[in-house]
Amino acid sequence: MTTKLTVLVAGATGMLGFKIVSALLDKGNLDVRAMVRSINNSNPENLKKLDAMKAKGATIVEGDVMQPETLLPACAGVDVVVSAIGNNDVTVPGQKNLIDAAKQQGVKRFIPSDYSVDYRKLDYGDNDNLDMRKKVFEYLQQSSLEYTLVLNGAFMDIITYMPLFDLEHQTFQYWGDGETLLDFTTTDDTAKYVAEAVSDPSLGNTALSVAGDTLTPKQLKATYEAATGTKLTEKSLGSIAEMKAWIANKKASASSVEEYVYHQYMYAMVSGKGKLDRIGSDRYPHIKPKTVKQFLSKGNS
Ligand SMILES: NC(=O)c1ccc[n+]([C@@H]2O[C@H](COP(=O)([O-])OP(=O)(O)OC[C@H]3O[C@@H](n4cnc5c(N)ncnc54)[C@H](OP(=O)(O)O)[C@@H]3O)[C@@H](O)[C@H]2O)c1
Repeated sequence: MTTKLTVLVAGATGMLGFKIVSALLDKGNLDVRAMVRSINNSNPENLKKLDAMKAKGATIVEGDVMQPETLLPACAGVDVVVSAIGNNDVTVPGQKNLIDAAKQQGVKRFIPSDYSVDYRKLDYGDNDNLDMRKKVFEYLQQSSLEYTLVLNGAFMDIITYMPLFDLEHQTFQYWGDGETLLDFTTTDDTAKYVAEAVSDPSLGNTALSVAGDTLTPKQLKATYEAATGTKLTEKSLGSIAEMKAWIANKKASASSVEEYVYHQYMYAMVSGKGKLDRIGSDRYPHIKPKTVKQFLSKGNS
């Protein structure tokens, strides 16, 4: 007799976390616990999500990553913790608390809230948000918990909001030579890969890198034009070194991280520094991830 794995999802009311809960339940062989800050949530959107998760078969448990005492009961009897926490104030301290509770409760595997480019290849300072992923990963490594990272490049869902596109001015802009490969995956597909990663025995202490599509900026422009029938003016914004200097200048005078962090994400991609290695999307042939052409053709942008 095989016992079902129990998977706890932190951040279950979040955009990605909710999709991960659904993808885990779709597997049909997992007990899924959705962790939410409050079962009597005052946010109507969250209440709807709670009802939907319950109706689909998830058990709802309360837990706040900033209140460690709430995490021990949430992690009791759990085999795998999947974090989809998405709040920068809690990314590092909250996930450290979650790792501590998981370790105390004998959890077998921990998937941190990454879902990004390969931040392990970046230097501290390259991206303020991804620096936090690096800190959590270092903590996870020294915790001796088994980990799996899920790395998917950029979410395809936000592709036209990236600094490459200036649709207001029908312009496509890029730094460098426009020939560096960039990885994109939809949030739906990322959630499906997470659902595989929780129980794949060969993913202990390693990363699952996946991409629905890998395109250069120039190919992305052509794909957008073919899919939407809209021509964009191409504009070079300078070299990668000039982009780095622009970010440093902006950061020196910025009043908030939002003023430059999207360019830092772009830098990690167009410089090739955060490029995913050994993309393993095809290890799960039943997942047919969406390509950029399919995504843009369906009017999702
Ligand atoms: N690669 C990309 O292009 C890309 C783009 C966007 C996001 N991401 C990454 O994807 C991950 C998920 O992002 P998202 O957009 O899905 O986030 P989100 O929608 O903002 O959801 C964040 C979740 O964290 C929960 N949370 C916040 N503080 C908490 C606390 N103290 N205790 C317990 N739960 C708490 C929120 O709960 P409440 O509902 O109670 O607030 C919510 O469920 C993040 O790592 C993010 O960086 C990647």
